[in-house]
Amino acid sequence: MAEQRATNIVWHDGDITRDERWGALNCTGATLWFTGLSGSGKSTVACALEQALINAGVYCYRLDGDNIRHGLNKNLGFSADDRAENIRRIGEVAKLFTDAGVITLSSFISPYRADRDEARALHEKDGLRFIEVYVNAPLDVCESRDVKGLYKKARAGEIKGFTGIDDPYEEPSNPEVLLNTGEQTLAESVQQVLEYLEAEKLVRIWSPA
Ligand code: ADX
Repeated sequence: MAEQRATNIVWHDGDITRDERWGALNCTGATLWFTGLSGSGKSTVACALEQALINAGVYCYRLDGDNIRHGLNKNLGFSADDRAENIRRIGEVAKLFTDAGVITLSSFISPYRADRDEARALHEKDGLRFIEVYVNAPLDVCESRDVKGLYKKARAGEIKGFTGIDDPYEEPSNPEVLLNTGEQTLAESVQQVLEYLEAEKLVRIWSPA
């Protein structure tokens, strides 16, 4: 837990409620938290899902680990503390987007269960949906894809503390959505998430016949 350092600060409520905002803008916010090994397909699924949602007129936005580490989190590395801080900040950012009414697609390895659970608690204590999507592909599949060439470097000892090689990944124990990206196609994974969102009445993609 990050410590509260500032003193003499007072929370200032706005003049409209969340329901009023979402109702007026005809949107529903929710955080989809993609977690999994590097190369498991988190960003690939999030990108394809973003395309499908935007095509259907659903306001959504993607927060991606590699991208956020170029800006907001550029001062963080990959120690356990830095990864925790990475996830803490993104948990807060995702919560803000979601409160604003956006379907927020957050893809970070987020290897530690406690950090993901904190992000979930942050949402749920404020009445916001947090949907954990475990993008599950066996390490050998991720490693054989090696899109960024990082597994090769990690095996060669050129990157220390690489998730799955010499740093842990703690699997979600009870994710809302489980994607087996080693076996299913990208289209199947996207469809599975869309069906979950529809079933939960978070989006309406197909108009009734
Ligand atoms: S997290 O562990 O803190 O959630 P995050 O998703 O932001 O990680 O960033 C992971 C990305 O950083 C990977 O996809 C990979 O491109 C890159 N990366 C660089 N070094 C490492 C490392 N030691 N472990 C894992 N990913 C790394």
